[in-house]
Amino acid sequence: MGDIAEKLAILDAGAQYSKLIDRQVRLLGVESDIVPLDAPIEQLRPYRAYIISGSGGSVIDDPVPYTDIFGEGKPVLGICYGIQLMNQKHGGTVERKEIREDDDAPIKIVYHDSHLFRGLHEQEPVLLTHGDSIGLIAPGFRVTAYSGTLVAAIENEALAQYGVQFHPETERTPKGPIIISNFLDIAGFRRLYTPWNKLERSLDYIRKAAGDDHVLVQVSGGVDSTVAAVLVKQALGEKRVTALHFNHGYMRKGESIHVEAALRNAGIDAIVIDATDRFYGATTSINGRITLPLNQVIDPEDKRNIIGDMLVVVTDEVAREKGLDLKSLKVALGTTRPDDIESASASKKAKKIKTHHNRSGLVQDLIEKGKVIEPLKELHKDEVRELGEMLYLPPEIIWRHPFPGPGLAIRVLCTEESFIDESFNPTNQRLWYLTNYEKSPETFKDFVRTSFDSELEARLKTVEGIFATLLPIKTVGVQGDDRSYSYLATLSGKQDWDTLFFLASLIPKINRNVNRIVYAFGEPIHGPVTEITRTRLTRDVITQVRDADDIVTQILLKYDLMRKLDQVPVVSFPVPFGIIGNRSIAIRTILTKNYMTGIPAYPGKNIPMEALEEMVSRILREVPHISRVVYDLTGKPPATIEWE
Ligand code: XMP
Repeated sequence: MGDIAEKLAILDAGAQYSKLIDRQVRLLGVESDIVPLDAPIEQLRPYRAYIISGSGGSVIDDPVPYTDIFGEGKPVLGICYGIQLMNQKHGGTVERKEIREDDDAPIKIVYHDSHLFRGLHEQEPVLLTHGDSIGLIAPGFRVTAYSGTLVAAIENEALAQYGVQFHPETERTPKGPIIISNFLDIAGFRRLYTPWNKLERSLDYIRKAAGDDHVLVQVSGGVDSTVAAVLVKQALGEKRVTALHFNHGYMRKGESIHVEAALRNAGIDAIVIDATDRFYGATTSINGRITLPLNQVIDPEDKRNIIGDMLVVVTDEVAREKGLDLKSLKVALGTTRPDDIESASASKKAKKIKTHHNRSGLVQDLIEKGKVIEPLKELHKDEVRELGEMLYLPPEIIWRHPFPGPGLAIRVLCTEESFIDESFNPTNQRLWYLTNYEKSPETFKDFVRTSFDSELEARLKTVEGIFATLLPIKTVGVQGDDRSYSYLATLSGKQDWDTLFFLASLIPKINRNVNRIVYAFGEPIHGPVTEITRTRLTRDVITQVRDADDIVTQILLKYDLMRKLDQVPVVSFPVPFGIIGNRSIAIRTILTKNYMTGIPAYPGKNIPMEALEEMVSRILREVPHISRVVYDLTGKPPATIEWE
């Protein structure tokens, strides 16, 4: 713990992104704590400055309890919900506008003498995610930036209070680090927090948490669990550590063999256990409810819980088999900060995006009993990679694409029936107007109302040869700090990527019930798609997605794309597109540093078209019963990286 007067408090209003603020602040060399927005004033007073995060709530109808720090004479930066609270508290207003924004947009900076925006250009791209907007400006404040007609930033220099409607903490605001750094300068911070501190603290933490116990480390082979294993080994010595790798049956082709070799290369002799049959029909209890067996489950949360719990059960079995004393045994996991936040256990206020498998019921029980060691829980992926480099791990491990613990089990969308609710037809109609604007401009304008401007109109007039339709399934997304489970829309026809990405970004803005948009290769899709193929986690479906994934991996290697793309999930989804019993495959590329936000790779720029075409044609040729291959065009937000 550093000197609190040199620390910044992040007042968490319930944002998924508060840990990103924390990460950015710490990357800039300042230590920070995340504390609830309504923490007692005595707790908050010693900090040098405050940043107020965004929130899933609204200051209008869902206010988050807060402690008034605005009169403390300390510098404050309010982000998203934070700017709204600041403006309202100082006597301004907040209004609900017709449109919500969950996308990149340019802001226009109108005061260049603002210290917060020092070093920025007049126009800067930012990530906006909000439904409410600033109305009347609080007395004493001035507007320093706009996005279109909406207020994007306010400030009162005399009070050192600043508000931004956008998210400078995410990498989708490229100048975000400069803005946050400017704020840290305004607050007069010295930059004392370094990467070596992080390594020393991790080792220290492990020694304290382990006490005299023996430690079992679960290694999936990904960078997180491998770095965790190496740290534990370094902190406690080889004799006190046993590394386990389970093949639960949802690994990629040949993955476990590869992982075993890579771990050996990193100095870890892991015991590899084939537990495929143990997992296949496994069940668990979630709050007293017994789930269906894994091979019959539909709900992705159930899949994550079963797999997380089974990892505990099987670890326990192995420990018994090996004659280890269970009473003096602890388990180390490679849980990182985003895993923790998205399961909403870090902040009681952040809404749950998904239950990470390291946060299943049995793991929580073990945590409560003080049996779990998580040396990376405070770190983001890029910090974990930084530690990996300091520990001289082989680059193939450090730069390996993350692979989720539940593996391919969460890359198969399971369903019993088509998802068609009362919004299906109206949404399909809107999509039709969107790609046929000239046929009925007035109807379309009526749909989008306030957000309509001449620039948008000019752009829509150029849309030609592209068809949009809804698919009768839902996928997971994250919109305005909250989890969404909404429709998947597909575009087909002309491969005009500029227009496809433009439409993909516009669609969720005017259809709140759509959070993901794909481009379908092949013939254009006309008319509504309503059929699905009933799908559960059976061996044939797993084989299908595993084979498709293997083809994509081979081509990524062939075109040297592993380092250029940060992750490429390959997903099976149950839409047969007219061929009974078939499914389809999605290729989801993502460019990201921290996996909390990101953008898809642009075909022809970040991924060669020939690589993509080879993936599509090989999957269709080599994997049986696949109707179509689609390419995910959606950023995070509004969609998540994984589909489930
Ligand atoms: P999402 O889909 O939430 O994913 O945008 C962010 C990152 O987390 C990985 N992920 C998981 N990893 N267990 C894991 O170990 C999980 O349950 C899980 N779900 C998502 C995902 O692959 C991406 O890197």
